[in-house]
Amino acid sequence: MELDLHCTRCRLSERRIQVVPPSGDMRSQVVFVGEGPGEKEDQMGAPFIGRAGKMLDRLLREEGLERDRIMITNTVKCRPPENRRPLPEEMCACFPYLEQELASRRLIVAMGRTASENLLGRGVKVGMEANTFASIEILGQQKEVLLTYHPSACLYNLKAREGLRASIRLVRERFF
Ligand code: URA
Repeated sequence: MELDLHCTRCRLSERRIQVVPPSGDMRSQVVFVGEGPGEKEDQMGAPFIGRAGKMLDRLLREEGLERDRIMITNTVKCRPPENRRPLPEEMCACFPYLEQELASRRLIVAMGRTASENLLGRGVKVGMEANTFASIEILGQQKEVLLTYHPSACLYNLKAREGLRASIRLVRERFF
């Protein structure tokens, strides 16, 4: 389903400033998926531009993968109030949009527990499963998912930072 910038499929629409669409290369083979827009993203209308986004930018830059060459999106496209985790019904309402974004990719990078659990449909312990692959079906096609840490976790946790860095390196080596 094409993203509706006036979407009212769930209650996140009541308090958002705007729907936050994906950014980057819409034709990239690789998509990075986060949780949901934060305050800055809600204000500016683009994903990963606040503190977590700066961390993601830094790791991409250090590993030589240009942000413009990947697609970046979120599990839900509207900011959850007080940056709480999106509720199952909110992720469910937003899934048709996400599915459309994932449909033409070769690799999905699930950053953090929310994106990983939403995509795999099961509980995920990122600390145990980071930098492993899973396979999911999107609109009748098998897709590879790389599980990894969320950039917010990397702000204070060195293990997470090196884990996300390793994922980015792997993506660059295999796809760019
Ligand atoms: N910004 C985003 O766009 N997504 C997140 O998951 C966190 C911050």
